[in-house]
Amino acid sequence: MNDAQMIQTDLDSVLSAEELREIDAELSHVPYKSGAAIDALKIVQARRGWISDQCLQAIAKYLDMSAEELEGIATFYNLIYRRPVGKKVILFCDSVSCWICGCDSIKQKITDVLGVDYGQTTEDNEYSLIPVPCLGACDRAPVMMVGDDLVTHIDEAKIDELFADKTNNSGGNT
Ligand code: FES
Repeated sequence: MNDAQMIQTDLDSVLSAEELREIDAELSHVPYKSGAAIDALKIVQARRGWISDQCLQAIAKYLDMSAEELEGIATFYNLIYRRPVGKKVILFCDSVSCWICGCDSIKQKITDVLGVDYGQTTEDNEYSLIPVPCLGACDRAPVMMVGDDLVTHIDEAKIDELFADKTNNSGGNT
């Protein structure tokens, strides 16, 4: 068996039976395999936290796509993480309504409290901070997601309350 064949064989064992079962369920709803690309990425990310190169290649192979094609989709979709992230991702809205309501100073407060800037993860691996466009809750701006929770009407007191156990950790790039 040559190197290329070995890599192909290895890719067949990367995804778990459960992941493949969930991807198959998505495939039953789409007319062609690549139509399930985003869902397949989300399924694998939900179990592993992020999409490694090996997972990306395995998913691409399973969907009869090139890794480059799938990488293009993963990169375009900003909620697919191609690097490890913290246990909770803070999706911080910096679009117009939140900006008018002072999200810049809130973001600075988060950076001060957690010691991370956009694209970074706290040293204890608890939080990653990522900017996102509108979260669809403009009437409750400024807003952010912390893990699965939507946090609305954020002010500095709320940041202190949310991250009360944190001091100035220094972050690192994710
Ligand atoms: S602009 Fe922030 S939720 Fe819409």
